[in-house]
Amino acid sequence: MDGNGRWAQARGRDRSYGHKAGAEVVRPVVTECSNLGLEALTLYAFSTENWTRSNEEVSTLMDLYVMYLESERQLFFDNNVRFNQIGRRDGLPPEVLDALDRMKEDTAKHDGLTMTLALNYGSRAEITDAVRAIARKTAEGALAPGQIDEQTIASHLYTAGLPDPDLLIRTAGEMRLSNYLLWQLSYAEFYVTDVCWPEFTVEELHKALSAFKGRTRRFGGVV
Ligand code: FPP
Repeated sequence: MDGNGRWAQARGRDRSYGHKAGAEVVRPVVTECSNLGLEALTLYAFSTENWTRSNEEVSTLMDLYVMYLESERQLFFDNNVRFNQIGRRDGLPPEVLDALDRMKEDTAKHDGLTMTLALNYGSRAEITDAVRAIARKTAEGALAPGQIDEQTIASHLYTAGLPDPDLLIRTAGEMRLSNYLLWQLSYAEFYVTDVCWPEFTVEELHKALSAFKGRTRRFGGVV
């Protein structure tokens, strides 16, 4: 969800204004993904590198996550959406952890769209944590090195149980992955739009989905 800051600055406003506008855009996108019957939607809300931003910006964002999780409860219930979070818990303020845990617990039985917030998420941190967990099992003798396969690794990532993404949408025109789902995106189709996140509409979502439908996916094979 990139471009909140640029969108706000282009309007002579501060970055927080852009983040608040960005938070408003999440509702229609989640609702549409749910209406379309999609299995999973993962939103990159805060990276392990975003802590280097000013205290003011970080604290605005943390407040926004809590407010979002409280104000959107009904949306998750009305649409049978299951809430999930990926990322390190260490470092997140207790009120954010409480709000995440409550929403996760309260929507655990929903079987529609799984909406995952990547919060304090970094793919390298995720892979490091997975390697540590696997190494522990190996040291304890619970797992032989030769038994470690791709499935072992996938099942130790924060995304265990989620399908690999079919489509990555990046807003605000940046052509990079920014430490996002490096393992999981191996065969995803990329769609980059210049539209900044606060202006990302359901129509923009449909443009991305149409582009995706036109792609030929080969998964390394030939068609
Ligand atoms: C990156 O764009 C965006 C973020 C670090 C924050 C994303 C947060 C939101 C969309 C709002 C809250 C979300 C929820 C789910 C409540 P940037 O602001 O760094 O943009 P820039 O590259 O133009 O500066």
